[in-house]
Amino acid sequence: MIWGGVGLFIDSSDPKEIKDLFAWGVLCGVTTNPLIISKEAPDADLAEVVREILAVSSGDVSVELTTEKESEMVEEALGYHAWDTDRITIKVPFSEIGLRVNHTLRKRDIKTNMTCLMAMNQAYLAALSGATYVSLFSGRVRDMGYDVRPVIASTRDVIDREGLDSKIIVGSMRHLMDVNEALEAGAHVPTVTPPILRKMVWNPRTIETINEFNDAWRKRPTKTKK
Ligand code: E4P
Repeated sequence: MIWGGVGLFIDSSDPKEIKDLFAWGVLCGVTTNPLIISKEAPDADLAEVVREILAVSSGDVSVELTTEKESEMVEEALGYHAWDTDRITIKVPFSEIGLRVNHTLRKRDIKTNMTCLMAMNQAYLAALSGATYVSLFSGRVRDMGYDVRPVIASTRDVIDREGLDSKIIVGSMRHLMDVNEALEAGAHVPTVTPPILRKMVWNPRTIETINEFNDAWRKRPTKTKK
């Protein structure tokens, strides 16, 4: 089956890496989460980090809510949304409260990304609630001993069959093969870390072939001028 995709996102909060990798022309969005930002920029001001990310990227930039009460989550989301009303996408952790928050934000036409999803039934509810994106966590599903491919494929089937608008992001990628498998299973948007994106370029036979061609060119017989 041929799937219609949306594009590739980078899963990072490092503006330098994001700038370098956007220059390849293959990326169309950014995902962050509190764990990534805590590891990559523990002392940074969140608004400053996101401002830098917006400046060096294009497309949707997901910023995750960290509060846990409904009213605080909506207030936090409105604060992030104001940073860039076109591009900021509010990452809403999935729960009963999360669904209410998602529904409130979507009624205001604010883009959302319902996150921390491990199963099709969760993604289905997130999509019904109007989430712009539903984020399935490949590595974390596999950590529990389950195959993530049927989770992605059944989520794609139900979204297509029911005519829901949500796009499936697959994150929590641990290996290059996770990206291939997510795409084959029907993900609209794999979100990949910078090391995995670089691994997608590398192939020893490609390097060997380019070297062989350039070596032949350098060593070609040339006519000596009189
Ligand atoms: C992406 O949106 C997710 O937040 C991220 O990929 C989670 O990855 P992890 O399971 O490695 O923390």
